[in-house]
Amino acid sequence: MTEPILKLNNLTKTYIVGRRKNAKRAQKAISALQKKYEKFIAKNNELEAKKVARVLQKAQTLFANEQYEASYKTVTGKSLRKRPRDRGSVIHALNSVDLRINKGDLVAVIGPSGSGKSTLLNMLGLLDDPSSGQMFLNGKSVASISHNELPEIRSRELGFVFQSFNLVPTLTALENVMLPLRYSGMHIRKRRKTAAEALQQVGLEERIKHTPSELSGGQQQRVAIARSIVNKPSIILGDELTGELDSKMTAQIMKLIKKLNANGQTFIIVTHNPEVAKACKRVIHMRDGRVVKDIKQVV
Ligand SMILES: Nc1ncnc2c1ncn2[C@@H]1O[C@H](COP(=O)(O)OP(=O)(O)OP(=O)(O)O)[C@@H](O)[C@H]1O
Ligand SMILES: [Mg+2]
Repeated sequence: MTEPILKLNNLTKTYIVGRRKNAKRAQKAISALQKKYEKFIAKNNELEAKKVARVLQKAQTLFANEQYEASYKTVTGKSLRKRPRDRGSVIHALNSVDLRINKGDLVAVIGPSGSGKSTLLNMLGLLDDPSSGQMFLNGKSVASISHNELPEIRSRELGFVFQSFNLVPTLTALENVMLPLRYSGMHIRKRRKTAAEALQQVGLEERIKHTPSELSGGQQQRVAIARSIVNKPSIILGDELTGELDSKMTAQIMKLIKKLNANGQTFIIVTHNPEVAKACKRVIHMRDGRVVKDIKQVV
């Protein structure tokens, strides 16, 4: 089997809101153990890594079942006093997700609001650290990539369309789309030309000098799409990629995506739109932080 372009192993992301001291302590203990695991892996010490993995697995399962004291004890051997009066909540935004994304995949991620779609996408885009579990990009453990290297790798390998677009308000459409090319080594004139071509692909050639506030929601979204594809990253992640577009424009963007996908680019798109999901080769259903269905379809 070929190496997946992105792989998640038993990945969790937990948010702790409020005091919830025991949950926080258990979470910290798990993170520390996770680091230890990474170290053994880096040193090829498989025996110790396996031992740690077993403890980790048990602690994570207990944590997911809200048994924070038992989870803490599994990792540290120490007991915690119960704190029934601690207010707050523990949110399992992602709960033990195993996922393989292969080169050339065209994936739709669907599921109810709050089911963890954006959290998953942020993980896959290396924009957030997991609470536990592993992530691999082209077979390389993401935890082993240093923080200085990350922005460049992200910019080369990954294109992102955010749910809120994240355009720079003071820059024109063209300048926004030029941003990902800053590591490319291209001459400024070439960068301008490449960005203009990307804007043309999304049908915005007549708006290149407009700033985001001078554009409609759908136009801003298309600028964000142009920005995500301009440097031809291997993976493009879109959160509600077509959320602001009418059905005609959505169909046009999906056509563009299919064309780029046929040329080998991988797409992962969060969507509420059944038409968009229908056009994808694979549909991942999320619920309560878990992948509950993963379906291949013929398109
Ligand atoms: N920074 C945070 N702190 C605490 N809880 C968070 C945080 N970010 C997300 N959550 C919670 O994590 C869960 C998953 O959120 P996420 O944004 O991934 O959902 P989503 O599936 O993208 O939803 P939507 O379709 O509404 O965009 C939600 O319950 C959310 O409230
Ligand atoms: Mg979301």
